[in-house]
Amino acid sequence: MRRSAARPVIIDCDPGHDDALALVLAAGDPGVRLLGVSTVAGNQTLDKTTRNALRILALAGVTDVPVAAGCDRPLVGELTVAADIHGASGLDGPDLDVPVAEVADVHGVELMRRLIVGAAEPVTLIATGPLTNVGLLLRRHPEVVPGVRRVVFMGGSTDRGNTTPYGEFNIVTDPEAADIVLRSGLPTTMIGLNVTHRALATTEIIAEFRGLGTPLGAVCAELMTYFAGTYRRVFGFAHPPVHDPIAVAAVIDPALVRTVAAPVAVELAGTYTRGATVVDLHGRTGREAAVDVAVGLEVDAFWRLLMAAVRTAGGAAR
Ligand code: BDR
Ligand code: CA
Repeated sequence: MRRSAARPVIIDCDPGHDDALALVLAAGDPGVRLLGVSTVAGNQTLDKTTRNALRILALAGVTDVPVAAGCDRPLVGELTVAADIHGASGLDGPDLDVPVAEVADVHGVELMRRLIVGAAEPVTLIATGPLTNVGLLLRRHPEVVPGVRRVVFMGGSTDRGNTTPYGEFNIVTDPEAADIVLRSGLPTTMIGLNVTHRALATTEIIAEFRGLGTPLGAVCAELMTYFAGTYRRVFGFAHPPVHDPIAVAAVIDPALVRTVAAPVAVELAGTYTRGATVVDLHGRTGREAAVDVAVGLEVDAFWRLLMAAVRTAGGAAR
């Protein structure tokens, strides 16, 4: 398997059960170097997603990475959180009563700007929540563009949605921000539901997390057990899909995710389809194939990568 050298990354997230696994993967895998974390309102309000990011990083033993709170609402309109999926805290399930680091005294968008302009090499932005912070960064600070290697975001779908019939949560929450990112001209990878729905945290996977024998492994097991309950109740899924860590995995080992270049637009107006990603897989529109759209996933290799990272970040069994 071909792995890239450690790439500098910033994770912009809204933890969120699957965002938590994305942070753990970045914390535990040597293929990426986490420069900073910015948080955004999405799965829950900004205060909660920020606290959750700090809690997960503390559990993963990451204490030297700045975490800054970003936007507390979408660029346009009001915030609608996903408490039906992630609970009142945004990370319901495990007891996460751990001492946490201080949140950085800077806005999340400004943290991203500083980290990008100060980096020795171009930085990969991994976004696992609504694209509000990333959109604002590109709009307000276009000077960062040469310092961004690629934007890899979890969001959208080549098929149908999960928040509206055609809209996926991260894009529906802030369609205007997604539109800015998709029109930015930056190399962009879209990790949509069409792929993330293949990575299911089965009973065996949850048992494997628990079997690691570490506090972090136990927390991952409890997070996925809660997630399994909401996905069963809301969507009728037998097992919950873990969306967000696939965006991190695609940076660590691009061979895990098969992509095709295609034009992607966001529906900003539709009566029933606002926030839908319109992916032209067959080149029918004549628009530029500007986005690398994920269409395949090496599922077993993905789980091996994630499990190894949970083992590493969680330390030895005690
Ligand atoms: C996305 O929405 C959130 O609920 C998840 O954290 C993921 O980022 C999936 O649609
Ligand atoms: Ca998320």
